Amino acid sequence: MPYTLNEFTADCRAALSDDPDINGRQKVRNHLCRLLMEDAFVNAHCGPEVEPGTSLLYEDDTLGFQVVAHIMGDAYDGGPHDHGASWAIYGQAVGYTDMTEWARLDDGSAEGVAKIEQANEYRLERGDAGIFDDFKIHSISYPSGARFIRVTGVDLSTIARARFNADNDKVSVSKRESFTGAA
Ligand SMILES: [Fe+2]
Repeated sequence: MPYTLNEFTADCRAALSDDPDINGRQKVRNHLCRLLMEDAFVNAHCGPEVEPGTSLLYEDDTLGFQVVAHIMGDAYDGGPHDHGASWAIYGQAVGYTDMTEWARLDDGSAEGVAKIEQANEYRLERGDAGIFDDFKIHSISYPSGARFIRVTGVDLSTIARARFNADNDKVSVSKRESFTGAA
């Protein structure tokens, strides 16, 4: 029997209800990896017929987590950012996404200043997923046509998130619309 979006979101709800911390998120990641290998799911939500853009596949009324499909038209190479006080799990459906994790070196005491350096790099291919905990810094790049599913703890447009410039050690924190190209 295929694993469906409904089963996935029920599994997420159960995992995060039992344990909202890293153990629950790890279970969500594992469930997402399984879902991403389902051709029926990928074709329906990330297939060639789906227009570029984002679509909200699910929002949990009680826990607040969201499942969003990101259908990319153009290639993209984005800057480092965090997701504020939310975790995010990126899972690849089509193509690949190159992930870079960054470490923060300063103590955050100087307004608008952040020293960061690259800490880790890896590629997500179909069926792979990466977890980014609250305030974890990363950047992403992908080729044209990449498609992924992002599960976040909350609607990211409701919380302040940081963007970092590693060249001049600046950081800006603001609420903004949830992304349509850069995550
Ligand atoms: Fe992101």
